[in-house]
Amino acid sequence: MFSMFSSREKTGTMTSGRRNHLASLNSPLLLFLFFVFLHSCSCSVLNEQGVVGHGYRIRSVNVDPLGAFTADLQLIQKASVYGPDIQNLILFASFETKDRLRVRITDADNQRWEIPQNIIPRPSPGQHIFSSKDSDLVFALNETSPFTFTITRRSTGDVLFSTLPIIVFKDKYLEMSSSLPATRSSLYGLGEHTKRKFKLVPNDTFTMWNADIPAANLDQNLYGSHPFYMDVRSSSPNETGPPGITHGVLLMNSNGMDVIYGGSYITYKVIGGVLDFYFFAGPSPLLVMDQYTELIGRPAPMPYWSFGFHQCRYGYKNLSELEYVVAQYGKAGIPLEVMWTDIDHMDAYKDFTLDPINFPAEKMKKFVDQLHNKGQKYVVILDPGISVNYTYGTFLRGLKQDIYIKRGGANYLGSVWPGPVYFPDFLNPAAGKFWAQEISIFRQMLPVDGLWIDMNEISNFITSPPLNSLDEPPYSINNAGVRRPINNNTVPASAMHYGNVEEYNVHNLYGFLESRATHDALIQATGKRPFVLARSTFVGSGKYTAHWTGDNAAKWEDLQYSIPSILNSGLFGIPMVGADICGFIGDTTEELCRRWIQLGAFYPFARDHSDINSIHQELYIWNSVAQSARKALGLRYRLLPYLYTLMYEAHVKGAPIARPLFFSFPEDIMTYDISTQFMIGAGVMVSPVLKPNATTIDAYFPRGKWFNLFNYTQLVTSKYGKYVTLDAEGDTINAHVRAGNILVMQAEELTTKIARQNPFELLVVLGEHGCATGEVFLDDGEEVDMAGEKSEWSLVRFSCKMEEKNVKLRSEVVNGAYALKHGLVIKKVVILGLRSASGISSVYLNEKKVNSYLDVSDTVVEIRGLSQLMSEEFGLKLKISDEMKAK
Ligand SMILES: *[C@@H]1O[C@H](CO)[C@@H](O)[C@H](O)[C@H]1NC(C)=O
Ligand SMILES: *[C@@H]1O[C@H](CO)[C@@H](O)[C@H](O)[C@H]1NC(C)=O
Ligand SMILES: *[C@@H]1O[C@H](CO)[C@@H](O)[C@H](O)[C@H]1NC(C)=O
Ligand SMILES: *[C@@H]1O[C@H](CO)[C@@H](O)[C@H](O)[C@H]1NC(C)=O
Ligand SMILES: *[C@@H]1O[C@H](CO)[C@@H](O)[C@H](O)[C@H]1NC(C)=O
Ligand SMILES: *[C@@H]1O[C@H](CO)[C@@H](O)[C@H](O)[C@H]1NC(C)=O
Ligand SMILES: *[C@@H]1O[C@H](CO)[C@@H](O)[C@H](O)[C@H]1NC(C)=O
Ligand SMILES: *[C@@H]1O[C@H](CO)[C@@H](O)[C@H](O)[C@H]1NC(C)=O
Repeated sequence: MFSMFSSREKTGTMTSGRRNHLASLNSPLLLFLFFVFLHSCSCSVLNEQGVVGHGYRIRSVNVDPLGAFTADLQLIQKASVYGPDIQNLILFASFETKDRLRVRITDADNQRWEIPQNIIPRPSPGQHIFSSKDSDLVFALNETSPFTFTITRRSTGDVLFSTLPIIVFKDKYLEMSSSLPATRSSLYGLGEHTKRKFKLVPNDTFTMWNADIPAANLDQNLYGSHPFYMDVRSSSPNETGPPGITHGVLLMNSNGMDVIYGGSYITYKVIGGVLDFYFFAGPSPLLVMDQYTELIGRPAPMPYWSFGFHQCRYGYKNLSELEYVVAQYGKAGIPLEVMWTDIDHMDAYKDFTLDPINFPAEKMKKFVDQLHNKGQKYVVILDPGISVNYTYGTFLRGLKQDIYIKRGGANYLGSVWPGPVYFPDFLNPAAGKFWAQEISIFRQMLPVDGLWIDMNEISNFITSPPLNSLDEPPYSINNAGVRRPINNNTVPASAMHYGNVEEYNVHNLYGFLESRATHDALIQATGKRPFVLARSTFVGSGKYTAHWTGDNAAKWEDLQYSIPSILNSGLFGIPMVGADICGFIGDTTEELCRRWIQLGAFYPFARDHSDINSIHQELYIWNSVAQSARKALGLRYRLLPYLYTLMYEAHVKGAPIARPLFFSFPEDIMTYDISTQFMIGAGVMVSPVLKPNATTIDAYFPRGKWFNLFNYTQLVTSKYGKYVTLDAEGDTINAHVRAGNILVMQAEELTTKIARQNPFELLVVLGEHGCATGEVFLDDGEEVDMAGEKSEWSLVRFSCKMEEKNVKLRSEVVNGAYALKHGLVIKKVVILGLRSASGISSVYLNEKKVNSYLDVSDTVVEIRGLSQLMSEEFGLKLKISDEMKAK
């Protein structure tokens, strides 16, 4: 289970006393470093006892020919709190790829807990060594006493990470800090927390300990843990370099921790494991995502249908109510793709059961079959706790297979919705098999299309008394913002997992492991691409699951917080994410729900969900909400090919679907602080109303030309980036496409299944010099692999440019297989951004004249009635009349 760096070659050892020796292969930089970076950090956060000079000195250093460092470290002064110090440490630093530097510090003499390779597969220390000379990152050890290390960007000289001379390493307390340039660093990440802003605000503590704390609570540790941040530098150290150079930092550690961000420093206080840092060179935000997800796992492809609209509620009483809701959506003409139920359908809240009175199995099966016949889907919830009930087959099979988490030698007894429960131990391979078998048996009764795994922090309605020191570690992380005991309302830290692994170490991994087991089980049961929605996540969860932001409140504030929350999930490599539309806790209002669907229609995962104690909030209930829903979801469904192509981009490059503005405009520092607008991919910007009674909004437009996506005509031209006041009355939704993009669209329908049968339309938005690009990824939407070696798919790229003032659009078919087989055609091309559409004298497709074009308005031209095969490369030319050319 444990991975341990042990044997190392010593090829010549440098020893040092207290001299200030900088061991670095990059000597030209050496002097520079000495003089430029004299960090002044007055952070007194380090240890309460004020132990000065606490840390380790370097006893010996070995640098191998590729530039990998191995250093033996020795304790120089003890810290008096949190238990005995570890005497000897070992530091290993190497480039695992050109853009990824790993620095790992652990006990030299004893094995410690680390996230096992079979949970997050990654190179062992020293396994993949890339030459340090080829990287833009430079690692340098400072042989001061205590020692420090520095990571610098070669191309700009910028110091990215520079440890303070205090490192604490005890069994249950590790501490390390780095200085940061407070005025030039913008930090993002360190989740999961609900925050007012996406950009981290200094003097804040980010606690990571997965807990069933409703997302409606600001600034507390929530369901997931992601010790990853992105750092965007607004300039280079001499203030002259370009803004937006970005890197990422991950602490690969599953233990509880507090991360304190103080503007000029960041401090990690961790209650176990090792200090295992990964640095991602970027230099752009998207490249950091690519490098980060290359390590932690690429986001799982999601089925095409999951991009449709979802309806859920905790408190649906019976099958007739489900049928009623589905019917009302149909009547209102609002797309409903997926119907959900929370724990209501279960028999006494037992997983894999159906309430025989209100949700009888036979009738439920008919209901699901009917949904399927109409191209709709059905998803149900599962909780990890298995009801302790000796007439319950699932429970008995689990008992027999001995897969439950233990404490003090017996199965640990918790309490959740069904009352007393045992929790499957997903560290145990047998638990994965058990889970898969139960899912398969359940699906034989009810062929659900996806699974929603809730309560997996693990949430527990009781708090068990402490048994040993694991239950009460010496340092109290800021659990729930009040240093609440770590055992509160969860499985106690002294509980034991398979392989004698303590819950203390794997607490934050439970949701991840359940996601993986559920993902694998669904593939096994269906042979199709799985859809899993998890509440609790960890680094790498995106490889298996989608995520929703948890229990928010039906409040205007929560509507706004949903933007930082979904952007964070994207940053954590979980791009399929959404917040509960119209709000979960408390009663929504017509106006709030209307504004929420206007925004929520653009969440990658769009689901309306309400609490049993709240009023109903299905989108058809209020006319104004229904009207906005038809409009917003209508655009969403037209954009499905675009959204799905972004899923492909996420899967191959880690690019989030919903992105902060600075991902597209890192050079524009005005975008760094924006938490009220976001991008869908690189082409579409959403600027929602977030306040009651609003009739206008002030939206920031980065440089470029932007067209309203609803009517194509409203144009905002922004030379350097500016705020614009936009009309936002009633059902006005501000979604804009930026010039330079080609969006692939289809006509809207009430289900994705029908929508995707429509012919394609290209929306070409001419940018500077008439240039524009875009692409579309196509497959059947449910093959397990996306663009896998054996899968059938298509990728077609489009580009447009101005040649002798004629507009030329062409396609490049990277892979035409899927499009060819299904005879997919492009029927319409809409071109925006012409100086005057009426100046077009003729249109040619592959040199043949096309007669069916139309000036929709002065600057919009529609070319209709095409039947161009998607699988064949084509050229489309718009000739501009001489009269126009003369202008
Ligand atoms: C090395 O450490 C000393 C003492 O903390 C500090 O003054 C100096 O700036 C450091 N040098 C580098 C290159 O980090
Ligand atoms: C600032 O730093 C950049 C990148 O290292 C360098 O190219 C530039 O010459 C420097 N400018 C000044 C004024 O020192
Ligand atoms: C953070 O705290 C420091 C020291 O107390 C203070 O100087 C700084 O202004 C604070 N920053 C913010 C953003 O509150
Ligand atoms: C379903 O629940 C609703 C609401 O409680 C109730 O009015 C209706 O009679 C129930 N239908 C059936 C078939 O039980
Ligand atoms: C066990 O489950 C059955 C069926 O749901 C239920 O009738 C019974 O009350 C349960 N027993 C216990 C001890 O909860
Ligand atoms: C656990 O948390 C609850 C609030 O959820 C609190 O009421 C209770 O006192 C806490 N228990 C302990 C032992 O701290
Ligand atoms: C919105 O308008 C309503 C009705 O005019 C008013 O009662 C309410 O106070 C307003 N809310 C805000 C936040 O201005
Ligand atoms: C397009 O929509 C925007 C936002 O609703 C509106 O301000 C603008 O007037 C509309 N343009 C046309 C031509 O309808």
